[in-house]
Amino acid sequence: MKVRGKHFRTIWRKPDDERVVQLVDQRFLPHEFVIEEIRSVDEMATAIREMHVRGAGLIGASAGYGMYLAAIESAQRNSFDEDMAAAAAQLRATRPTAVNLSWAIERQLKNIAAGKTADEKVALAQRMADLIADEDAEHCRMIGQHGLALIQHIAQTKHNKEVNVLTHCNAGWLAFVDYGSATAPIYAAHDSGLALHVWVTETRPRNQGSKLTAWELDQHGVPHTLIADSAAGHLMQRGEVDLVIVGTDRTTFTGDVANKIGTYLKALAAKANDVPFYVALPSSSFDWEMRDGLNEIPIEQRGADEVKNADGWCDGQQIAVQIAPDKSPAANYGFDVTPRELVTGLITERGVCKANEKSIRSLFPEHAP
Ligand code: MRU
Repeated sequence: MKVRGKHFRTIWRKPDDERVVQLVDQRFLPHEFVIEEIRSVDEMATAIREMHVRGAGLIGASAGYGMYLAAIESAQRNSFDEDMAAAAAQLRATRPTAVNLSWAIERQLKNIAAGKTADEKVALAQRMADLIADEDAEHCRMIGQHGLALIQHIAQTKHNKEVNVLTHCNAGWLAFVDYGSATAPIYAAHDSGLALHVWVTETRPRNQGSKLTAWELDQHGVPHTLIADSAAGHLMQRGEVDLVIVGTDRTTFTGDVANKIGTYLKALAAKANDVPFYVALPSSSFDWEMRDGLNEIPIEQRGADEVKNADGWCDGQQIAVQIAPDKSPAANYGFDVTPRELVTGLITERGVCKANEKSIRSLFPEHAP
């Protein structure tokens, strides 16, 4: 996607130094656009854990490149396989909810095992890291095309009056390698000339909506309005939302959807007000092992400081201010699970399906039990 008119992905290999990975460091957005250089698996693990990069697809692509950097490091020692196993464990431990993380790591381990020498293994790891990133971008582009058809249909029923989409958190370009999942249909619709407006929830406590989604949409010129998280139900009751599109960090093969905390409440409000509720995801975000999202998906809990403080830009620097009493304890659940019954459909790179096992498997027959 474009930043100040120039095309960027969120992660790539440095053109003049193959041993360096560059990524958009999201901690400084929307105020500063910073590119970080990552030179080791340790640095990549830190970038994922401390959310320089975040979002399901980008966490997967970062893990793919993390394994590539680990292969370069391991090739200089005599314990390649042990070192790679340790790197995989280190990356796996960074964040628990997005399934793309373990998906990318397993893919790399399997792929690297085919190499006979350390140099061959490094070359395989490099190709696979690039492939994971390229596939992520292409799958999101395809999600955009399938989601566009849904939005066009709604526009027709509204006699081409403006379509209002509500999205939560950031399942945008910044959460993937390019295009985004929830935002791909939005960008495709906007680029096709369709009249469209996006309600962007701020997404406390880390404000991925206000800091990232609003910034992305603004860069691309998509009309949008930022709202407090709690305003979504009010807007749906008043007919101000035509459809909801969110992303997901992990969706079971039965259609239960883990996504940023607050998604479940939006799905409930959508159901109560007959607003279609879609989840956009590349197939890398399906968990083909998990049946029961509510009981099985690990939900990340982060530090209380993220709830007790708010951070922002002041006089050219990032500052945090306390917004709660010193002594009040706070809990910080990162994600919730929306049961399949509340989901109208899943928008994938292969098309739109229902959020149930039969429909999901019919799009992805290679994952038959
Ligand atoms: O904690 P984050 O920012 O990594 O959370 C991930 C998300 O941005 C959302 O849950 C998003 O809607 C799904 S990721 C495509």
